[in-house]
Amino acid sequence: MKMRVAFVIVSFILSLSIGLVLALGNRGHFKEKQIKQDILIGLSMDTLKEARWQNDKKFFLEKAEELGARVLVQAANSDDARQLQDVSALISSGVDVLVIVPHNGKAMAKAVRMASDAGIPVIAYDRLIMDSSPELYITFDGYKVGQIQAEYLIEKLLPIKNKIRIIRIYGSKMDNNAFLFKEGQDSVLASYIKTGQVEVIHEDWAEDWKPEDAKRIVNAAITKYGYEFDAVLASNDGTAGGAIQTLIEEGIAGKILVTGQDAELVACKRIITGVQTMTVYKPIKLLAGQAVELAVNLARGKPIVAKSSVNNGKIDVPAVFISVQAVDKNNIKETVIADGFYTYNQSCPVNV
Ligand code: BGC
Repeated sequence: MKMRVAFVIVSFILSLSIGLVLALGNRGHFKEKQIKQDILIGLSMDTLKEARWQNDKKFFLEKAEELGARVLVQAANSDDARQLQDVSALISSGVDVLVIVPHNGKAMAKAVRMASDAGIPVIAYDRLIMDSSPELYITFDGYKVGQIQAEYLIEKLLPIKNKIRIIRIYGSKMDNNAFLFKEGQDSVLASYIKTGQVEVIHEDWAEDWKPEDAKRIVNAAITKYGYEFDAVLASNDGTAGGAIQTLIEEGIAGKILVTGQDAELVACKRIITGVQTMTVYKPIKLLAGQAVELAVNLARGKPIVAKSSVNNGKIDVPAVFISVQAVDKNNIKETVIADGFYTYNQSCPVNV
């Protein structure tokens, strides 16, 4: 009896994994790359204007060099038409695989179709591409990022305040991640908002994640409500930077809790000097490294096994998630610095 149960379980696991492998490996229309050694990867990026993405590019190129793959990089300066042209140019250059960081997750569905028509597999890198069939989505857990930000705010402020008044700054509406961060934050805040312990005095979306738009949002909140708020729940370090600019001009920086994400160098400096409270560290080296490995495997026609999947409106895209971590003044040395993301001297402008 026991043997039979074991057999059934083993067969089930085997059939599941074979199913997954087939699901990922059976895109028969792709060029046969099994014996191809000289892999050319096309990397189409939304922007290189933010420090976050410069790091992604740097780590991506480092890993590709280590694996002996060549990379062609294009950055679209947050322009959808340009990103489509970039992808088209990369396809014409004969790339074996495309890795895309979409500016606009919906607009880039067309890029995936163009690649698929040319027999080139696509990896959606850190941002989901909607309504299309990319072979893989590799990303940090955006929902978790939002939860970590909101949990941090609650844990720090609730023990010392009866009521927490907050300004919320969301990211770009073009970016699916901005919605995930918001949903993660909402999941934590909802019950506190219901009991009246948290009040959102002002909220808005920052166009294209621009710091200057975040500054505008905080200015608008101050014009309406004065300084009657305790925290700015900023969705990333760029928007946190814009918000902090206003707080500095108003003479209240350091008195207001400000969240962020990305552990950008300037943000780490702000955390150490006390004008930003926390960030979420996303180990970009790991993300970029795994993306390159998976891209090379896809280009060689090797099947990829992903444990998760995310629905993009058309299919369940096989997905790989990389975990994230909250960082503040108290653990910056054990996280960002211990990981070699920056050296202590780089991120520490003053002695603390
Ligand atoms: C990324 C964040 C980044 C933001 C702005 C998001 O898609 O997940 O890490 O800060 O884009 O570039």
